[in-house]
Amino acid sequence: MDIRFGADYYPEHWDEKRHETDAKLMHEIGIDVVRMAEFAWSKLELENGVFRFEWLDNVINILANYNIRVVLGTPSAAPPAWLIDEIPDLLPVDSQGRTRGFGGRHHNCHSNSAFREHIKRLVSKMAHHYKNNPNVIGWQIDNELGNSHNDLCHCKSCRRRFQKWLESKYKTIDELNREWGTSFWSQTYDRFEQIPTPMITPNSHNPSLLLDWKRFHSDLIVKFQQFQIDIIRQICPNHFITHNLMGFFNLVDYFDLTENLDFVSHDQYPMGFFDNPQPMKEPSVLAADLDLMRSLKNKTFWIMEQQAGPTGWEILGRTPKPGQLRLWSAQSVAHGADTVVYFRWRTCAFGTEEYWHGILPHSGNPGRRYYELQKFISEIKPYMEKFKDSLPESEAAILFSYEQSWAFEIQPHHPELNYIDYVRNFHRGLYNQNIPVDFISEKGDFERYKLVIAPLLFLVSDELVEKLTRYVVQGGILVLTMRSGVKDMNNKCHIESELPGKLTELTGAVITDYDCLRDQDIGIRYNGKDYRCRIWCDILKPVSAECIGTYTDDCYRDEPAITVNHVGNGRVYYIGTEPGQKLIDDFLSDIVNAAGIERIYDKPAEVEFVRRRTKDADYIFALNHTDRPQTIAIAENWKRLVNNENLEPFGYALFVADRPDSP
Ligand code: GAL
Ligand code: ZN
Repeated sequence: MDIRFGADYYPEHWDEKRHETDAKLMHEIGIDVVRMAEFAWSKLELENGVFRFEWLDNVINILANYNIRVVLGTPSAAPPAWLIDEIPDLLPVDSQGRTRGFGGRHHNCHSNSAFREHIKRLVSKMAHHYKNNPNVIGWQIDNELGNSHNDLCHCKSCRRRFQKWLESKYKTIDELNREWGTSFWSQTYDRFEQIPTPMITPNSHNPSLLLDWKRFHSDLIVKFQQFQIDIIRQICPNHFITHNLMGFFNLVDYFDLTENLDFVSHDQYPMGFFDNPQPMKEPSVLAADLDLMRSLKNKTFWIMEQQAGPTGWEILGRTPKPGQLRLWSAQSVAHGADTVVYFRWRTCAFGTEEYWHGILPHSGNPGRRYYELQKFISEIKPYMEKFKDSLPESEAAILFSYEQSWAFEIQPHHPELNYIDYVRNFHRGLYNQNIPVDFISEKGDFERYKLVIAPLLFLVSDELVEKLTRYVVQGGILVLTMRSGVKDMNNKCHIESELPGKLTELTGAVITDYDCLRDQDIGIRYNGKDYRCRIWCDILKPVSAECIGTYTDDCYRDEPAITVNHVGNGRVYYIGTEPGQKLIDDFLSDIVNAAGIERIYDKPAEVEFVRRRTKDADYIFALNHTDRPQTIAIAENWKRLVNNENLEPFGYALFVADRPDSP
């Protein structure tokens, strides 16, 4: 993959006389790629069938003079007003039956066939127009697919499509009735045409319908992207195609969405969005986002939007401190980004995002942010060439499942149980020990790892159980948790045996009772130490397993809380609660030591260590996310490439070491 730095550029917002200055300033900061046009439909197709590409051609030519290449976005996230006039039912409908109006973006239904015809015509025109332009290198489909589509779309077309989707899944209505358990509350359907989308009802919908709705919706968006991929692949076989994702955003299954892309792109905004109080995302949460992005295709990726200044729409965020933009960029590279594109080039003077700051301020004059990034790009780029395409080579993986996340959104059990946070806690347990970690899906290759953590494996299929069993029998270490094996894939409870149902052979322990800890936490003693745990408590009865942690409170005192079971050459741990970070850290540390999993840096330090591992060397990043200087003790074989072991506040350093296993 190419090593590049770039900016998201909106030449349509500026007088064309400015474009040359922009290109020159971009070149001087080290930018050699821009993304453009992903919201420019009304400039590219002035009215129905009237296309104008000259303005974009001119910009591309100016950029080319400065050796800056172009990624074009297909503008389907911003259908223009004339198109809404033409297809009024393109506007999406929410679960209360309200049509969402024109005026923002993403005001579209993904199933509307007239909309697809318009996209097909525009995207084909663009693709033909740019297929031989040597300065255009690739495409981004749409923009952050699924973003803004929460609670959408319940229009007639989507309902019909949902019914068809169900029909192709269940074949007969009797089968659907059985699999959804519609005998409950007299919900039996006679025909697929009767099935609603989950619009508001006097009370909750059937959980099986809700899960299928989320799957359908994800599939719809995946297909919407695929339909555009197909057009471009055919016309521009030499261009890459990517899409900009949003970390742990889960409306669309990202494993599916990225399957047919050449590589993943990601939008990284460490200071978060509009929430109040403003969330400065924790470094480990940022790391988890990046690890997921790399893991989707097990491949290096692009950052298509890296925060470049204070964020904000109606409410503004803090201004990044000196060093922070550089630090976050370094973190992205460390976790596997081979190209970093900043959002945006220049802060816009109008529109919803006029306070979402770019590298340049409103005035267009380079300032602190410009010079900080200029220095960073020039110092890091030569080393990126050396480790491009390389991955961390993780020995540990966490199973991340969109379907489990949806099932827990439908039934969180406890008001504070959040699947993604629960998963992130385990990621943080490895992050805290400087252990590289990948995420895998149910379809992933478990055998590549010494340790697989599969939190909250609520819905289980026979295939998954077989796969996990094979992995463990061959020597793998598997960690399972509370609420595993509870349901089948259609979101109905397992009834054939005690929990964890089909996973019982693996756990070697059954759950005899459970308690949703609504109003209290609970103590656990593990390895002679006491911890407080929350949310849930499974009471375990070991059959072949050994108890390694017990509850310490109330009627649960001395009952097993954590077990380990030897299966084949491997072992399976089970934790019957939300263990909390301290217990996760200590528990994983013991497992990691026993499994001989390597830590990149094994002394305590308030610094993140990340590696890119090439054939013969480890490129090691030390990232100081604190506002204080930090000193680290580097190993003798670490050579300093950028900066050194005395890290300034928000500073970073890059070292290289021969691989421990290289001759
Ligand atoms: C991203 C989006 C950009 C821009 C940015 C700032 O989510 O892809 O187009 O809107 O946020 O709001
Ligand atoms: Zn719709």
